[in-house]
Amino acid sequence: MKKYTEIKDISNLNETIKEAILLKMNPYEFQDLGRHKTLVMLFFNASLRTRLSTEKAAKNLGMDVMVLNVNDAWQLEFEDGTVMNANTSEHVKEAAQVISQYADIIAVRAFPTLTDKAKDQSEYILKSFEKYATVPIVNMESATAHPLQALADAITITELAEKPKPKVVLSWAPHPKALPQAVANSFVGMMQNLEVDLTITHPEGYELDKKITKQTPINYNQKEALKDADFVYVKNWSNFNDYGKVLNQDENWMMTQDKLGNAKFMHCLPVRRNVVVEDAVLDSENSVVIKQANNRTFAAQIVLKQILEGLR
Ligand code: CP
Repeated sequence: MKKYTEIKDISNLNETIKEAILLKMNPYEFQDLGRHKTLVMLFFNASLRTRLSTEKAAKNLGMDVMVLNVNDAWQLEFEDGTVMNANTSEHVKEAAQVISQYADIIAVRAFPTLTDKAKDQSEYILKSFEKYATVPIVNMESATAHPLQALADAITITELAEKPKPKVVLSWAPHPKALPQAVANSFVGMMQNLEVDLTITHPEGYELDKKITKQTPINYNQKEALKDADFVYVKNWSNFNDYGKVLNQDENWMMTQDKLGNAKFMHCLPVRRNVVVEDAVLDSENSVVIKQANNRTFAAQIVLKQILEGLR
């Protein structure tokens, strides 16, 4: 693997999921692979799971890890040809090349603005690091995608599925703040590559990017969509068409035990209790959110392993 910025960087998904499950059984098997190799993780935004699980994954492979909260460093410029006489002190052109001298792999977390759709869709932060860094880049959640989360979700569903083609429903949920579409986008993209029966349910007007949903069925009736579901993945996203707006906070879309039935409940976390999902669901045996979070380590570990193998 040359990089992991999007799901399609995985050349054989089923094999990769199988390998990740094996790594989970024997996490230190490849601890010599990353010896004298360094992962630099750059955070433009907050994180709990991604930060700790990716660091753990790298250390399981014997790597050294350095973490930079980018907002503590010099403010970066991303535009070409700018007269840098305002707030930005360093161009990403230099920064990415300099960091590449300290790192064998660079991982980047950079959320969208949710105010400038064109800028967000261009993935200018992630793409700038891809362009100017001289080492492989890993996406730890960008403006439009969260491929490490999606790989962890695919591992979780593969481990827990009780039938060859489970029904998986992605259900929008209310949230007081404008959240990115990244998790939903990558989850849909990932499920389209797995042997599952995927349905998306959300209020009318909350359509994700059609380039991502493609032919996946969308049902505006949540109750109907949830019928006979095996896995229900709940996630809020802000409006994609009326970009970044919170147009609906209808609490009837919150996931409840009654609506969930016997399905397994999934969420990437962090989650707002009794806004996105009621306590009874999160505290039930049907909730697999802690397993999902554990699988973040093995998703990151298989990705780092495949990149390290490519560096040899
Ligand atoms: N799911 C996820 O990416 O969690 P963090 O934002 O805490 O990293």
